[in-house]
Amino acid sequence: MAKTSELCLGKWRLWITSLLFCVTAADLRYSVPEETKTKFVIGNLSKDLKLDYNRLRFRKARLDYQGDRRYCEIDLDSGNLFVSERIDREVLCGTTSPCILHFEFILENPLELHNIALEVQDVNDNPPVFPKGSIKLEISEGATTGSKLQLTRARDLDVGMNSVQTYILSQNKHFVLDAKSSKDRYVDIVLKNSLDRETRGEHSLVLSAVDGGNPPNTGTVVIEVVVIDVNDNAPLFSQPLYNARLSENSALGTSIIKITATDEDEGANGEITYYINHLSDNTKQLFKIDENDGEISVIGQLDHEKASSYEMEVQAEDGGGQTGHCKVVIEIDDVNDNAPVISVKSQKNQIPENTTPGTEIAVINVKDLDSGENSRVSCSISPNLPFQLQPYIKSYFILTTSSWLDREQIDNYNVTIIATDGGIPPLFSNISLNIQVSDINDNSPRFELQTYVIYINENKQSGTSVCSVSANDPDWRQNGTVLYSLVPSEVNGVPVSSFLSINGDTGVIHAVRSFDYEQFRNFSVKVVARDNGSPPLSSNVTVKVFITDENDNSPQILYPVPDGKSVMTEMVPKATLSGSLVSKVIAVDADSGQNAWLSYQILKSTDPGLFSIGLHSGEIKTQRDISESDNMKQNLVISVKDNGQPSLSTTCVVNLLISDNLSEVPELKDMS
Ligand SMILES: *[C@@H]1O[C@H](CO)[C@@H](O)[C@H](O)[C@H]1NC(C)=O
Ligand SMILES: *[C@@H]1O[C@H](CO)[C@@H](O)[C@H](O)[C@H]1NC(C)=O
Ligand SMILES: *[C@@H]1O[C@H](CO)[C@@H](O)[C@H](O)[C@H]1NC(C)=O
Repeated sequence: MAKTSELCLGKWRLWITSLLFCVTAADLRYSVPEETKTKFVIGNLSKDLKLDYNRLRFRKARLDYQGDRRYCEIDLDSGNLFVSERIDREVLCGTTSPCILHFEFILENPLELHNIALEVQDVNDNPPVFPKGSIKLEISEGATTGSKLQLTRARDLDVGMNSVQTYILSQNKHFVLDAKSSKDRYVDIVLKNSLDRETRGEHSLVLSAVDGGNPPNTGTVVIEVVVIDVNDNAPLFSQPLYNARLSENSALGTSIIKITATDEDEGANGEITYYINHLSDNTKQLFKIDENDGEISVIGQLDHEKASSYEMEVQAEDGGGQTGHCKVVIEIDDVNDNAPVISVKSQKNQIPENTTPGTEIAVINVKDLDSGENSRVSCSISPNLPFQLQPYIKSYFILTTSSWLDREQIDNYNVTIIATDGGIPPLFSNISLNIQVSDINDNSPRFELQTYVIYINENKQSGTSVCSVSANDPDWRQNGTVLYSLVPSEVNGVPVSSFLSINGDTGVIHAVRSFDYEQFRNFSVKVVARDNGSPPLSSNVTVKVFITDENDNSPQILYPVPDGKSVMTEMVPKATLSGSLVSKVIAVDADSGQNAWLSYQILKSTDPGLFSIGLHSGEIKTQRDISESDNMKQNLVISVKDNGQPSLSTTCVVNLLISDNLSEVPELKDMS
């Protein structure tokens, strides 16, 4: 203000020096609001200066104004001072106040000079104006309360009360105006409540500058406050725990789960990288996480049997190093990829054939590494075998015999045990147990025939084999090894062993000596077949021995008694007619059959044709009537022959005496 007045005074001095007259300053003082219409009468100079307005023209009254513009004129007819053109205070004085235009009112005849000061009064014709329509400000979300943002003030070309009087900040939660700052060059906006970019990243404020006019004018500026991110948010997972499951046969590359963390920060502060923390070496080869999108996938061969679940900690890290964590539990579902495993825990490789049904043969364990239904194993054995499988405690089975065995029929069994699990489709496995049935001496030797009949020719040389017997014993080795022997007995008081012997191993029977059919014709002997078991089993068979005849005996004449010294004579009556039986040769043969079938023949006779002999009866009959002429003494040489091959024969002599009187026969005396 002081400066301004000084400047004014300076002007004055200029004026004073340029004029010859020193006149009292500002004889007249007027005021006019700026922007007043032209022709507006500010005042009447004639009246105010008590001049005769009729003489104005004469006195060449005029206004003198330094400068091009005039602003005011004087009406020479009335003396009115009126506005001649627009007066803009702001153009004239800017911020100088008061704004005074200085005129000189000059009159001549006589010269008269009056200073006229025209104060241009400010009219509130300018609103406050901010340098820019909008302002963009940045503030860190981490800024502490009390932080200030400086804004350039609004300018109002008007002055005094018409200039900016107050600032008003639009209603908001975070910022207020600093009251103290209103007189400075800047308007300070103070942070009242702390910011959170993530809640609101931009705040739009309207700062109004209000002048003191009536009505007041207002200028506004829009302030866009951009909240700059501070890494004040750690990545946050949508869940603290993620569960996923997949089957153990999942192919490499299978995506398991995608976990996502969010970070409300911006830019690098919000860029998340995912890691799996603390992975064991094993797990490292199975899973990986995509660093960028949090997708966990399979990179190795999963095996439910090795591990059925994995638990891992996943870390999300933002570009500013803030981390968030979550837990991921991956369950590995079982797939029926393991066949049951059968193991034999104990087994009798050999069982005796007299094993009682129900005897335990083997203990079997069946395991399936899978779980649930996939590990539920059922067992069966090949059908139609004398074995059964019985469940024992948990996953153990006992193989027992289910009926009697007979080694002689089946001496080994291949028992196939099939284990089937409950998977879909099921998996199988099987094992085969070979079970040997060992021998028990349960079979006695059995002869091939119920009785043996043998025929031995008499006179056979001793030592000849006459027969062989054979018995079978199906038992094993010594239990089936048969030894033969004769049962001691006697034949006609003689031990049978002196007739026959038997080869103990082969069953071949030998004659110990030759037999005489004529002594005895048959006998029986018992042969025992005994096995070598312990105790042994035996059976016996009867061997019937028949001695067959040989023609070893010549016919024997019983009648006529063969007596070398006396010859028997048979009396034949003279009147004997043809065909009469006169005598009979009686012979026997110790042999039998053909060998004893005798035939008689007359070899020589005194009178051939008189007698004949019956071929088999030995009866001697007349062939014709005896006549007187016939010789009294008749001799017949008769041969008796058996039918053997070759036949044996004997001869005898039959003496016949044809006579009716014994005394006629001299030799008869000798007979008596
Ligand atoms: C059992 O198997 C073995 C070996 O394969 C074989 O030699 C034997 O003859 C089989 N036994 C039966 C009764 O099939
Ligand atoms: C013969 O049978 C007995 C039981 O009667 C048995 O102990 C033995 O082992 C068997 N011998 C053979 C060679 O099988
Ligand atoms: C012969 O067998 C019968 C019947 O098996 C038996 O009764 C008898 O004692 C046996 N005799 C001998 C000598 O073994």
